[in-house]
Amino acid sequence: MKKLLKYLKGSRLQCVLAPLFKMFEAILELFVPLVMAGIIDNGIGASDKNYIIKMCGVLVLLGAVGLAFSITAQFFAAQASVAFVKRLKHAVFEHIGRFSYAQIDKAGTSTLITRMTGDMDSVQSGLNLTLRLLLRSPFVVIGAMIMAFTVDTKAAMTFVVVIPALSVVVFGIMLLCIPLYKKVRVALDKVLTTARESLTGAKVIRAFCKEDEQLAEFEERNDALTKIQEYTGRISALMNPVTCIIINIGIAVLIYIGAIRVDTGIITQGAVVALYNYMTQILVELVKFANLIISITKSVACAGRIGAVLETSVESGEGTAKIDEKSDNIVEFENVSFAYDGAGENSLENISFSVKKGETVGIIGGTGSGKTTLVNLIPAFYRATSGRVLVGGADVSEISLEELREKVAVVPQKAVLFKGTIKENMLWGKPDATDEEINKALGIAQAADFVAKKDGGIDAAVEQGGRNFSGGQRQRLSVARALIKNADILILDDSSSALDYATDAAMRKAIAANQGDAAVFIVSQRTSSIMHADKIILLDDGVATVGTHEELLKNNAVYREIHLTQFDEEGEE
Ligand SMILES: Nc1ncnc2c1ncn2[C@@H]1O[C@H](COP(=O)(O)OP(=O)(O)O)[C@@H](O)[C@H]1O
Ligand SMILES: [Mg+2]
Repeated sequence: MKKLLKYLKGSRLQCVLAPLFKMFEAILELFVPLVMAGIIDNGIGASDKNYIIKMCGVLVLLGAVGLAFSITAQFFAAQASVAFVKRLKHAVFEHIGRFSYAQIDKAGTSTLITRMTGDMDSVQSGLNLTLRLLLRSPFVVIGAMIMAFTVDTKAAMTFVVVIPALSVVVFGIMLLCIPLYKKVRVALDKVLTTARESLTGAKVIRAFCKEDEQLAEFEERNDALTKIQEYTGRISALMNPVTCIIINIGIAVLIYIGAIRVDTGIITQGAVVALYNYMTQILVELVKFANLIISITKSVACAGRIGAVLETSVESGEGTAKIDEKSDNIVEFENVSFAYDGAGENSLENISFSVKKGETVGIIGGTGSGKTTLVNLIPAFYRATSGRVLVGGADVSEISLEELREKVAVVPQKAVLFKGTIKENMLWGKPDATDEEINKALGIAQAADFVAKKDGGIDAAVEQGGRNFSGGQRQRLSVARALIKNADILILDDSSSALDYATDAAMRKAIAANQGDAAVFIVSQRTSSIMHADKIILLDDGVATVGTHEELLKNNAVYREIHLTQFDEEGEE
């Protein structure tokens, strides 16, 4: 929490001005009952019409100036809170950008999105309210009490009883409600999760005829939310009647005492009305204050969650080891084992192999055998749990991430495109790529044909997530994006899974023809995609067997089985 306060720095002036103007407004408000008393005593009492008109003018003036102060306060409070959240969002966004894959796994993407959106909004409105109201309400309560005493000490003694009684009720109910609101929040999260799942998975849900089950689950969670909200509502609904009873008893006593004192001529009728007004002012402010505290508590919880993101330490990404271009092996694994955070067993088990420049490596294995995990260690998306991963003779954990990732081009298993144009997506690989380079890469990735058919060619629009392209087209575009980078190491993680055999073969052939000195890693579940590789790594439950196609076919039963079943099915090898 404290860490967040530093983002207020640029708005110091506004943070002082907002409460200050709110206090000015409050002071004016405290004078209103006195003016009213004047109207009653000196205006109505003495039938002085001019006085009444004059004082009404004063009331209007007080209102107008008060409004101006209030708007000014709101202006500064809004400025400060918007600027604060802007700085904070910037910092959090930058920080999340440096999260490692393991940290993203742990935090969860949707949680991070909530932090950046809902939590930020809540902090913004919380800060705005705090700046405007946190000082104002206690100020009015105390101010009204003091004013009451200046009007008539004896009658004002009622306040001494009523205010504590009101405070107990108002803050008691508030204290009861705060933990309930937390429960509401948890229940709401559950409803939102189900809603999100149902919407994002709508097609799958229909395909599996799971609508009823989804609906039942949603209703169950929604009912739970309704119940806890009703319960909370009932308790907070007590606030109004109970405070009204107390205040009305207080007012009855006040008027009773006041009446006696008016009769005996100690105070005027106007004074009683003023006291009555101070009493209601105090009630209104106490209720406002209690609500304010509830809002602030929520905001503080949100701020805490945002603070937790900022406090997660990230890798500096710096390193001093240099990649040696002349090193014999461009990539080398030395007894590498890897386990995901929180996973019991290793996903990779004691893996060793080396790859020379210009070589092609095939990686094959069933789903979940660790193929993606293995290739993700090369650009240090994850760090080996034990053993070493070397690129250009240097341990990847000692190379600066910038230098390392400059050398590696990755086509992730899930092809991700960004909203924009095809060309803009290609420029991610190389910001200054010419159209010629882009077209060449599209050609190698077998994407030239369908891109040419799009309106605008390489300037054709890409919708969010690339949804206006088929799975296979997305794969080819993301291969092209990686090819443009012309990196020393190219990793294709199951990047042709959605392509037909002929296109897959044509793409591999084109990549090989343009490979030069680069090492290429091809991850696939088909032997046909990797059988011509210089080296094949067969993964079975995280355990690797390394060899050529012929060697593995001869010596490895698992490989032979994979190959033969596919060979039979396709009959094309
Ligand atoms: N982010 C992750 N967190 C925890 N476990 C994971 C994660 N990604 C993969 N795994 C586990 O690691 C194993 C290997 O997964 P993966 O490398 O993706 O396999 P493949 O790419 O061969 O299908 C699987 O058992 C999978 O459940
Ligand atoms: Mg995979």
